Amino acid sequence: GAPIEFDIAPIADGQIVRIFWRGKPIFVRHRTTEEIAAAENTDVAALMDPEPDSARVKAGKAEWLVVFASCTHLGCIPLGHQGDWGGWFCPCHGSQYDTSGRVRKGPAPTNLPVPPYRFASDTKIVIG
Ligand code: FES
Repeated sequence: GAPIEFDIAPIADGQIVRIFWRGKPIFVRHRTTEEIAAAENTDVAALMDPEPDSARVKAGKAEWLVVFASCTHLGCIPLGHQGDWGGWFCPCHGSQYDTSGRVRKGPAPTNLPVPPYRFASDTKIVIG
């Protein structure tokens, strides 16, 4: 599939939208100041799949998180703003992710992957 352009201007602070790219669901999350702080103020070494938040967002664009919307356990779609870390909760078997999409509780083994994307402008991203 070709890259898709997506307008992020209508996504309110704190809101998560789900879009599709190559038939796969992707979350675009407009993170709040608190959600960014929670993602950044984490002991990376203690994570199940250690990755700093800065490696998962674009420099200077920490308010935007773009991740695949499939649980890394068996592919269910996690529910946003839920779970102990306020990121996502997977209703299938209870995995939890933080506000960086990093797995914090299994059985999911790895973080929600970040798809290839870039900012075409302050209000547009191009995925793919
Ligand atoms: Fe998400 Fe099993 S598919 S916890």
